[in-house]
Amino acid sequence: MYSDPSRTVDVRVRDLISRMTLEEKVGQLNQMPAIEADFDKLAELAAGGKIGSLVLAWTPWAGAGGERQNLNVAENNRIQRAAVERSRLGIPLILGRDVVHGFRTIFPIPLGQAASWDPQLVEEASTIAAREAASAGVHWTFAPMVDIARDPRWGRVAEGFGEDPCLCGVLAAASVRGFQGDDLSRPDRIGACLKHMIGYGAVEGGRDYNVAEISQQTLRNVYAAPFRKGIDVGAVSVMAAFNEIDGEPCSGSRAILTDFLRGELGFSGFVVSDWASVDELRQHGVADDRRAAARIAFDAGLDMEMSSGCHAEHLEALVESGQISIEQIDQSVANILRVKFRLGLFERPYADPELSSRVFLQEDHRGCARKLAAKSLVLLKNDNNVLPISSRTKIGITGPLATAQRELMGTWTVDGFGDETVSIVDGFRNAGVNIVHIDDTVDSGDPLWSNVDLIVVALGEDHLRSGENASIAALDLPSGQLDLLEKLAVVGKPVVVVICAGRPLVLTDVIPHADAILYAWHPGIEGGNAIADVLCGAVNPSGKLPVTMPRHVGQIPIHYARKNTGRPDDGGYTDIPATPLFAFGYGLSYTTFVYSDFAVSRPSITALEGIEASALITNTGDVPGDEVVQCYIRDVVSRMTRPVRELAGLERVRLEPGESKRVIFALSASELGYWDRDGKLTVEPGRFGVWIAPDSQFDGREAGGEFEVVA
Ligand code: NOJ
Repeated sequence: MYSDPSRTVDVRVRDLISRMTLEEKVGQLNQMPAIEADFDKLAELAAGGKIGSLVLAWTPWAGAGGERQNLNVAENNRIQRAAVERSRLGIPLILGRDVVHGFRTIFPIPLGQAASWDPQLVEEASTIAAREAASAGVHWTFAPMVDIARDPRWGRVAEGFGEDPCLCGVLAAASVRGFQGDDLSRPDRIGACLKHMIGYGAVEGGRDYNVAEISQQTLRNVYAAPFRKGIDVGAVSVMAAFNEIDGEPCSGSRAILTDFLRGELGFSGFVVSDWASVDELRQHGVADDRRAAARIAFDAGLDMEMSSGCHAEHLEALVESGQISIEQIDQSVANILRVKFRLGLFERPYADPELSSRVFLQEDHRGCARKLAAKSLVLLKNDNNVLPISSRTKIGITGPLATAQRELMGTWTVDGFGDETVSIVDGFRNAGVNIVHIDDTVDSGDPLWSNVDLIVVALGEDHLRSGENASIAALDLPSGQLDLLEKLAVVGKPVVVVICAGRPLVLTDVIPHADAILYAWHPGIEGGNAIADVLCGAVNPSGKLPVTMPRHVGQIPIHYARKNTGRPDDGGYTDIPATPLFAFGYGLSYTTFVYSDFAVSRPSITALEGIEASALITNTGDVPGDEVVQCYIRDVVSRMTRPVRELAGLERVRLEPGESKRVIFALSASELGYWDRDGKLTVEPGRFGVWIAPDSQFDGREAGGEFEVVA
């Protein structure tokens, strides 16, 4: 009956489980890495029903490695064939891969995607990533990573959507929708995995894998927010985090993986561990041996173990000794099988080895990558309107990233090809710019610049300076780059700085030497074209910061949604200002936007009612442009302290010169309330402030007012 696709998923799952031995059930809970040298062994394990899944990665830090880690479709099919045709019940494997920001068509790093504040485009990018990955036989991605990150020293800040629960939540949902679509069984869709559950972005000192100290209030209202949104749109899996919280490693925490994730957040998919995070319960000091690690993790609600084999070795014995019940095992197996059925793996277990070559890098895929990259670029400075560069300008290009390709793809691009990436120099060439001098070293001498009108210098980080296990303590430009900039600044020509990076860097010393600064993140395969589009004015910049940019590393953690404290006017530093260098939400345009005519639909509402806040946005400049309009709220008095401002909505609008549009934000309980100690969404009676603003730094450009929630 389970092989009959006309039956419901639940019927098929129940029937299949009723036929399975304990050994076969445990096999479904075991995921092994697809290391090439082990392919024969993996096929035998699959034929024996001893594995349920492969993680298509060869090392624990696959994302930090090079590109072209070669998915071997034929070999993956061979292992799958062993599972489907030689195992007793023919249960297909689910093949998982880190498709983090594109597959062969590499999009900007997720932090860059977040700077676009464009959920539709992020969804489109994930749809394309799913199409390409599925064509190469991938069924399931370990993405999106939705860890809120407020510490840019942490290398994995690159992989997430930034510091804010609302922005991160909107993009988490967009990304899950993009991967999974409405119908998971379609051959061009893949399952999503929200990761890492939970608080991994809050690791102490920004050091990877470290302890995270997070209060219940912050956990529910900040770190859980994007998981909630991803779960609401149906993400089929969640990955347990490496870190501990409150004395419990997440991978062994029932409080997190069951009570919170399933009980409070309503998750019904399956939980996978992170790489060896079950075995690592021993290093954390909560398990004496691998058997205890398996017991603790499985009992906590961790269904599938990635790569360390403790489940496979010990779950049968744990059931036989009564420490784990067979009902628990059946529940976990059902969680996984449901997803396998929904993905259509029983009907379509194999990949067509020829398909991907027809799917990869299609014109619209590259087109989306270019559009998303252009929208992700944040213009931080543009003195005397040095930008956009006119077609008559003779430019010189220099800096270590001027001709870079692989570097522009950023971290986690295992299937991307560096040599398919458009460099910044090539982007300018494609745009027909008059380049009179190119030098991609860090020691360009000034005589070389005499015949140019303007210098573009491409600085920043390579792809290995951010990502997993790649934290840094100082947030400066890599060595030698500031010296180069200082030398260029005295040449006497306008200097445009382009910074590619996997994190917000501290730019305090860069600003005085630059006439213009474009922050480009790691912009992906079309990065060079997108940068030229914006610098030359074919595209008006519209990206806004998804993270606060500190003026000094000592300010970390710094984020806009701070609490007021009892002494809001005191408590700064005596050596530097406490304010950021660039605020969350900040970004310039080649035109100007004016915010006016604020209105709320009603002066007061009850907790059950919603309200609309709106403002008129006018393009008062000379060129068309997109503006990312942001709505912030403040719950002025409540039982628990709330941030002085919280992002409650965002909308991108396109405005022609002189054009105005009224932008309306609908605010209801999910925006106005907060999750209290009992895990209840509470909207408290009292005053609320609401602002519609170009960024989180209120300086008179915002339009705002108040309303009241009455009991
Ligand atoms: C470890 C990383 O923490 C995780 O994000 C990734 O999905 C796995 N490795 C698999 O590659």
